[in-house]
Amino acid sequence: MYPSLLSAVVIITLAGSGLCDTPSTNTLNIETIHHFSTNISLENLVVRRTGEIIVGFDNFPTIYQIEPEINGTATYIHTFEGYVDIHGMVEVTPDQFMVTTGNLSLVTHIDVPGSCSVWHVNMTGFPEHLEVKKVADFADSRILNGMALLDEEKGLVYVADSRVGVVNILNVNTGEHFVAINNSLTNQPPGDCQRYLYFSNFAQGIIGRVPIDENGLPEGDAEVVVSGLNTPEDFVLDKAGNIFLALFESNEVIRIDGETKEITVLAGSPDSSTYKWASAVEFGRRRSDKSDLYFAINGGFLEPDNVGGALFRIPLGDLTVV
Ligand SMILES: *[C@@H]1O[C@H](CO)[C@@H](O)[C@H](O)[C@H]1NC(C)=O
Ligand SMILES: *[C@@H]1O[C@H](CO)[C@@H](O)[C@H](O)[C@H]1NC(C)=O
Ligand SMILES: *[C@@H]1O[C@H](CO)[C@@H](O)[C@H](O)[C@H]1NC(C)=O
Ligand SMILES: *[C@@H]1O[C@H](CO)[C@@H](O)[C@H](O)[C@H]1NC(C)=O
Ligand SMILES: *[C@@H]1O[C@H](CO)[C@@H](O)[C@H](O)[C@H]1NC(C)=O
Repeated sequence: MYPSLLSAVVIITLAGSGLCDTPSTNTLNIETIHHFSTNISLENLVVRRTGEIIVGFDNFPTIYQIEPEINGTATYIHTFEGYVDIHGMVEVTPDQFMVTTGNLSLVTHIDVPGSCSVWHVNMTGFPEHLEVKKVADFADSRILNGMALLDEEKGLVYVADSRVGVVNILNVNTGEHFVAINNSLTNQPPGDCQRYLYFSNFAQGIIGRVPIDENGLPEGDAEVVVSGLNTPEDFVLDKAGNIFLALFESNEVIRIDGETKEITVLAGSPDSSTYKWASAVEFGRRRSDKSDLYFAINGGFLEPDNVGGALFRIPLGDLTVV
């Protein structure tokens, strides 16, 4: 199956929003945005300010742009020669994306220690112009996975390494980076308006969070937010603290209520092939789709029932607070 501890995705949010929303029970109409062939596995996605969706493969070092509409066309962006996979993407300043590349084989699950890098992809002039520059090599890395913006002004991003089990801070302007967070999980009561780094741990089946100071360093112990999850992958939080999460081996996208922690299945089921191996989620960024959730599936790469990597959309309506 998949390598354990593959996913550690990082999100920064403010605690204490305290909004109460009642989940609706309307049937969700899940739309197919784009379906790749069975030779493509999607592992991550990011949404441009203009609404187009960038997807990264984890069986080729390639990124594509997809129009955020039903049967949206996919446009090739770039291939990072000399690598095998893409596992993380984040926007730092408008249309300036950081992309992690590495040498993890989706077939053998063997990675090449020290082979990961982070690249700057400038989408401003795309498709006419594209600038791709290496930002940093990570000599002590295994699998650079989730990324999150820490400080746009200073150009600081978090880069999780899911096999080493740490979170780095990278300065995208200088390429300097260091291990910032390396914690086991213990408990500590949250303060109000504390900033947190949220992460998912695939192998431990949890979403956790660690309080951070103004430099992005931990200022307390990590705590479990939700446990007992089957292979939690990528996730996002909305303004009310509700968590929208891809459960990889459950083939599901779920909503975890920020207040009650109640779980609602939005798409898929453990025996679903349609949404096989849910890998990534992100909100739309257009006026028309900002309360829609896009999600990608790996498709079941190398499995007999592989359906191919694909991108879908769930109109969330009042299930989210935008
Ligand atoms: C995947 O297969 C399709 C045809 O089935 C082919 O057009 C495409 O080039 C392949 N993609 C890669 C990255 O090999
Ligand atoms: C999308 O493509 C599918 C399969 O080709 C087709 O059946 C469907 O009508 C298309 N939908 C739209 C809205 O174009
Ligand atoms: C990573 O994989 C690519 C493609 O197979 C290969 O060209 C490159 O040498 C590998 N890098 C390392 C450090 O092994
Ligand atoms: C991005 O590329 C555009 C050209 O397409 C260029 O004008 C701009 O300076 C670049 N921005 C950065 C931050 O490199
Ligand atoms: C993380 O912490 C553990 C336990 O203190 C330590 O053994 C390990 O070397 C640390 N890893 C990194 C990359 O700093």
